[in-house]
Amino acid sequence: MEQTFAIIKPDAFAAGNSGKILVRIYEEGFKVRGLKKLFLSKAEAEGFYQVHHGKPFFDELTDFMSSGPCLVMVLEAAAGIKKWRDLMGATNPADAADGTLRRQYGSSVGENATHGSDAPETAEFEISYFFSGLELL
Ligand code: CMP
Repeated sequence: MEQTFAIIKPDAFAAGNSGKILVRIYEEGFKVRGLKKLFLSKAEAEGFYQVHHGKPFFDELTDFMSSGPCLVMVLEAAAGIKKWRDLMGATNPADAADGTLRRQYGSSVGENATHGSDAPETAEFEISYFFSGLELL
């Protein structure tokens, strides 16, 4: 079993799509080990996305991620990192396959409904950024 970190981003949360995305997460066989609703500050979003610091979209990305509540989660499944990335689909919803979450609920590369870790080291950093060990059940 492998854990990954996931976000239902402010666009999907504000549109009322969190419940439908959570149903899909359970239907696909993930265990939800951690889950909380947060309203990130700009500084918290910048810290989370520090790997993108300096990129042209960094300010837009961190403004958006601190624009409203989101759900942060730790998901667990066999090959969980890839399984969650496959379920999300391509970063740009226009390129995402039919049936993926970003295709269904995203509207642009910036407002793309969900986030997921891209590698084991990233998952470790991202999980620990938001969750203590005691919160993972
Ligand atoms: P995410 O998986 O959360 O990781 C980094 C995010 O940056 C990505 O999803 C996109 O939402 C966002 N992103 C990537 N490229 C761009 C871009 N060109 N313009 C705006 N946002 C972007």
